[in-house]
Amino acid sequence: MSAVAHEALSGVIAESPAMRELLQVAARLAEAKSPVLIQGESGTGKDLLAHWLHYKGPRRDGPFIKVHCPSIPEDLLESELFGHERGAFTDARQAKAGKIELAAGGTLFFDQIEDLSLALQAKLLRVVEEKRFERLGGTRTFEIDVRFVSAARIDLRKAVGAGTFRDDLYHRLSVVPLTLPPLRERPQDIRPLAEAFLARERERRATQARGFAEEAMAALKGYPWPGNVRELRGAVERSALYSPGELVEPAALPPQVREQPATLWAGREQRPSLREVEAAYIRYVLEQVSGSQTKAAAVLGISRKALWEKRRRFGIP
Ligand SMILES: Nc1ncnc2c1ncn2[C@@H]1O[C@H](COP(=O)(O)OP(=O)(O)OP(=O)(O)O)[C@@H](O)[C@H]1O
Ligand SMILES: [Mg+2]
Repeated sequence: MSAVAHEALSGVIAESPAMRELLQVAARLAEAKSPVLIQGESGTGKDLLAHWLHYKGPRRDGPFIKVHCPSIPEDLLESELFGHERGAFTDARQAKAGKIELAAGGTLFFDQIEDLSLALQAKLLRVVEEKRFERLGGTRTFEIDVRFVSAARIDLRKAVGAGTFRDDLYHRLSVVPLTLPPLRERPQDIRPLAEAFLARERERRATQARGFAEEAMAALKGYPWPGNVRELRGAVERSALYSPGELVEPAALPPQVREQPATLWAGREQRPSLREVEAAYIRYVLEQVSGSQTKAAAVLGISRKALWEKRRRFGIP
């Protein structure tokens, strides 16, 4: 088994109810061939889940081919995807297979599909619908056996509403949509993820630390992780390097994690009252969730009504 396959299969951590449920659905999907759309903020694990679906299912011995839509210039992307016959354009001295062809018998993963141009969306629609295509400049029609997995960082339905994504392609690709919740909405995953990342660092002999000091874990749990699991992984890797002892102490954590509202006034003469800290933290959380009452209340562990009352009392707009 390749290292990627191994990491994808053994490395997915899911302890929160939301993630467990999602993995249960994904386990059934891995056996099927229907297209899957994975949505979630940056760093929530879309790439990891796409690999997991591939290596968990019957196509595991076939290829896993990724197309990262934004990184290939529009005019090249078409030949990247469909391939071309000899002489299809000036530089085409030799025929070349595209990624769709290379993915035969396996999985074709469209990453950041929200960035695919409308022109290419139209061409892709035919492939997804008919499972056939031609190379650029070619007349031969290829039949393909490919499983489509796509990932988007935004809610693709909104892109459909805004007219930047085709409705018909959206429905084809999102037969089964999976949404990875942001890490701040599944705090139960923070500890197991952090411990797993630390264990990896220990295996790599980057640290001797075996765990987190209580205050360090509290800081990890209190931070809203705008960069999601990727940011947590980076933070643990960094703190491992600064941890000479048995435990990772708060001082080893990145400043933004360490310096949360409750510790922000450490250097101030007049220590803040609980009320000040509470108000500051509420403001901070609201900012992290872009002002969403529902999300902020969930993070804070209070009802929306209680949040509303606190905002009024503290004069938080
Ligand atoms: N549930 C998880 N268990 C273990 N590791 C995870 C999990 N989710 C994400 N990771 C790790 O977090 C990092 C980011 O994940 P990944 O690259 O899959 O995110 P992404 O959603 O594809 O991000 P982007 O939108 O930026 O492409 C990777 O190192 C991945 O292995
Ligand atoms: Mg990704």
